[in-house]
Amino acid sequence: MTEHQFIPNPDNYRDIAKTLESGKVTWESPSNIALVKYWGKKKGQIPENPSISFTLTDCKTITTLYFSKKENDKEFSFEVFLDGEKKDDFKPKIETFFKRIELYLPFLKDYHFKIETTNTFPHSSGIASSASGMSALALCLMSLEKQLIDNIDENYFNKKASFLARLGSGSACRSIEGDLVVWGKHENIAGSNDLFGIKYPYKIHKNFKNYQDTILLVDKGEKQVSSTVGHNLMYNHPFAQERFKQAHNNLNALMGILESGNLNAFIELVESEALTLHAMMMTSMPYFILMKPNTLEIINKIWAFRKATGLHIGFTLDAGANVHVLYPENESAPILEFINNELVAYIENAHYIVDKIGFGAKQVVISINN
Ligand code: DP6
Repeated sequence: MTEHQFIPNPDNYRDIAKTLESGKVTWESPSNIALVKYWGKKKGQIPENPSISFTLTDCKTITTLYFSKKENDKEFSFEVFLDGEKKDDFKPKIETFFKRIELYLPFLKDYHFKIETTNTFPHSSGIASSASGMSALALCLMSLEKQLIDNIDENYFNKKASFLARLGSGSACRSIEGDLVVWGKHENIAGSNDLFGIKYPYKIHKNFKNYQDTILLVDKGEKQVSSTVGHNLMYNHPFAQERFKQAHNNLNALMGILESGNLNAFIELVESEALTLHAMMMTSMPYFILMKPNTLEIINKIWAFRKATGLHIGFTLDAGANVHVLYPENESAPILEFINNELVAYIENAHYIVDKIGFGAKQVVISINN
């Protein structure tokens, strides 16, 4: 499996490629939450270990890409709007993304782009929008490619969208499809590879159907350390190699759990992964802590409630202070009551988002004006 499969063959350009002047395309793409975490990467957005995530449903980005042919094809030309407001501070990240993907989308410099984007979750919620945002943009660009080039079937479309999204933000490659997506080569998962995410190809027990993820927004502030900086601190990290091995083993163990439906084993593995991620941050040089006191309060409350009730409530964390509370759908009622009665005190403005496992991105509308 190589990158070359994603470089378009010049013979496949449609006749319309010369004349397509302008148009727009809209995609909505969800966020995802990793169960086995990606933390540490090699050059070219290649992960140090395989990861697996639940695709979410309601936390998503909706992006419309307007494209219009331009004269000068020597440089990228685009503008970005978030909720209708021009966002020049997003431009450097998108410029970097365009540079990385230009080889695979050679028409990028032929068009001026207006990128209009909005998130269903508040921008300052501490929920990373890079996974949903980069995947939505990658999908819009693929829809344009599909108008320009022949022979793009759905399988190739999704693969290449994931491949491109990865070059924008690693975890974004896991947002194209659902309900569970694996990214990174694992010896026991057929088709898994470092270049793009694949739908988890094996049986999943019904216990995980509609699995719930209620996101407690502990801290809505800007993170002090970005994920990209955190990944880089895994170079020369004293525990890195062991961690990467552990991720392979945990994914292997998770395969058995997903098949058997053993919820206690699931919770143990997923919580251990979350705490290991933060342990890696605390043991890098320089070290840093993204959890807040209320993150720990919530974790302790969850453990006490689980012990007292026997309910299958567990948590995971991403690279921030927020807590993702995970539980099976049929235990929702008492767990939501517990969240309302006991956990809201620890979250900013009592703000939480009830989400659940989902099935990936959707195209909203497509029209060509030429
Ligand atoms: C902790 O995908 O945000 O959420 O590739 O540098 O954009 P870049 O990093 P990013 O890292 C996400 C890390 C994580 C774990 C995960 O989602 O697997």
